[in-house]
Amino acid sequence: MWYNTKATEILDIQYPIMQGPFGGNLSSVELVATVSNAGGLGGYGAYTLSPQEIVAVDKQIKAATNKPYNVNLWVSDTDAPDGTVSDEEYNRVKNLFKPYFDEAGISLPEKPVPFKSRFENQLQVIFDIKPKVFSFMFGTLSADVLEQCRRLGIKTIGAATTLDEAILLENSGVDMIIASGFEAGGHRPSFLASAESSTTGTFVLLQLIKEKVKVPVIAAGGIANGKGVAAAIALGASAVQIGTAFLATDESNALPIHRLMLFSDAAKYTTLSRAFTGRLGRGLTSRIAKDMWEKEKAFIPFPLQTTFMSPLRKAALDQEKWDMILFWGGQIAPILKHTKASELMQSLIEETTAYFDGLKT
Ligand SMILES: Cc1cc2nc3c(=O)[nH]c(=O)nc-3n(C[C@H](O)[C@H](O)[C@H](O)COP(=O)(O)O)c2cc1C
Repeated sequence: MWYNTKATEILDIQYPIMQGPFGGNLSSVELVATVSNAGGLGGYGAYTLSPQEIVAVDKQIKAATNKPYNVNLWVSDTDAPDGTVSDEEYNRVKNLFKPYFDEAGISLPEKPVPFKSRFENQLQVIFDIKPKVFSFMFGTLSADVLEQCRRLGIKTIGAATTLDEAILLENSGVDMIIASGFEAGGHRPSFLASAESSTTGTFVLLQLIKEKVKVPVIAAGGIANGKGVAAAIALGASAVQIGTAFLATDESNALPIHRLMLFSDAAKYTTLSRAFTGRLGRGLTSRIAKDMWEKEKAFIPFPLQTTFMSPLRKAALDQEKWDMILFWGGQIAPILKHTKASELMQSLIEETTAYFDGLKT
């Protein structure tokens, strides 16, 4: 059967369908459990959580499913040297965005307090909670960390946006690699070359990586129905990771307006922007995203740009100024159909099965 792959064997799941983990508080226990209970692999994006919060979420997931699930972290969670920016840089970003803060009737925020990376402490929690799967993005893990995961029975999955990143991940000793195409919603997880120069589409990237790498490859970006799953499998993917289509379901932690936007005409247009967080990510094209094209030099580093923009995001949400927000989403959004995660899972499985059964007749 199409669903018996190396990935399903390694992950101990029935169907090679992973629900993309969402950082920034967009994941939910309910979504993870729904997907895992339906035979796929639910994923929780935990990079903004404190170690204590990760432990609490993990308890809830374990109470909601006894099936394998994935917890996801960002190996690199800051681009700011010493976690801060100079006054000059901060004044530059304030001047650039002042008109929007004025328009929303709110004052410009004070310079953010220095950001301290959370990754090392979060990693310790992964060793404690021992999820079946630990996926990560924005880098590689040391041999020691990967060895410890192996000893604890935790399968590791790293994300690549280029062939070079995939080769580095394989050499580091990960169990599987995600080929993250540039169609995908959310941040580009590039860590060797710049994200702007790492923009290969999913199906090309998948084939390049399959040629050179032996560990199973998971296709992510632009997949939202059974034909997409079948195409990825035909090109050698051992599993798929689906983000935008699950983000749009009622079970995700996305705001109702965000989910509505993903099903609206606005979803026809997406763009890659650094303006909202300081790192390049894909969302539905908005006025600010367009205004900020080619002004990247004035933004402050991740995650300080997120901190700087958060009062504006809040005011824009309160005032329903949707054109001032970047609603995360991938290029495939206009074909989305399902608002229930269990129905999405069922239709992915049925459509893929029907496709492969059709080939036999
Ligand atoms: C809002 C949003 C947040 C995301 N956050 C993360 C994350 O924290 N970690 C991660 O590995 N992938 C993250 N992703 C990527 C997804 O897990 C998945 O690989 C991607 O969405 C697949 O492409 P698609 O959106 O075209 O389905 C995020 C995607 C979205 C849309």
